[in-house]
Amino acid sequence: MIKVTVPATSANLSVGFDCIGIAVTMHSTFTFSKNPDQQLSISGCPVDFQNADNLVYKGFKAVCDFLAVPVPAVKINIQSDVPVSRGLGSSAVCIVGGLAGANQWFDNQLSNEQLLAIATKMEGHPDNVAPAIYGGLCMAFVDSNSQVQVVKYPVNDEYQFTAIIPNFKISTADARRVLPAEMSYADVTHQVSHSMLMTHAISTGNISQLGEAMDDRMHEPFRQKLINHFDRVKAICNQLAAVLYVSGSGSTMMAITNAPDKQQQLRLTLEDEFPEWTVKAVKVDNDGFKSEVL
Ligand code: HSE
Repeated sequence: MIKVTVPATSANLSVGFDCIGIAVTMHSTFTFSKNPDQQLSISGCPVDFQNADNLVYKGFKAVCDFLAVPVPAVKINIQSDVPVSRGLGSSAVCIVGGLAGANQWFDNQLSNEQLLAIATKMEGHPDNVAPAIYGGLCMAFVDSNSQVQVVKYPVNDEYQFTAIIPNFKISTADARRVLPAEMSYADVTHQVSHSMLMTHAISTGNISQLGEAMDDRMHEPFRQKLINHFDRVKAICNQLAAVLYVSGSGSTMMAITNAPDKQQQLRLTLEDEFPEWTVKAVKVDNDGFKSEVL
């Protein structure tokens, strides 16, 4: 049996729309084994997803197609801690899980670069799939030769990350529909300078600079309206000098602090005010997916 573990990812980090993402310590685990019934079998997810449209299976099949081998009759089990449609990369997790499972099945013939290329094509943008594969904070883009390039940036150990996960979903399609079609030169200049500052401040541990850097003009102003109570969460974060950004396309918000007592206070305040939500301290997953034969 093959076992694959894939981390959740939090994309954009405010000013890195569609190109920056970070892997965090929430995981999904997938197992793959031969099905003696000679057909596809999927368990551990809602019945509606137990078919050939399942993203884990689609990822598995994509590697078989790439290798030009018949797709084996596979039994897939899914154990997921990553909530769906909450901005924590659940679709990237499934795609990378399926790709990694099939790659292990066929003796790891594909490199991580090849897995990334397939995953990016399936997902449409690399910001979630790159950290799910490589771990850590990744900046990824499609270059002039249509290759996906990845650069990893260090994250300062003094930062704590808190995932604030509301009890409602936001679909990425809906969250992309609210974005404007154009930006002004002034806003693009703002965005470029601030995303460079963000990659600097995330490595140095200078949280006031990080707060200054995470001032997005590409997506957050339009998406905040989709997240009920965003303004209240932001106000609580401001009181504790925590930096807040919308994780991926929401609904999760990620808060960054630089003192454990502030993180603790933030968690208690949010849990008290939003008892229906999940507030979870997470760390950076520096490894990306892991696969093994049991
Ligand atoms: N970069 C993507 C977005 C992440 O913000 O729409 C969600 O897939």
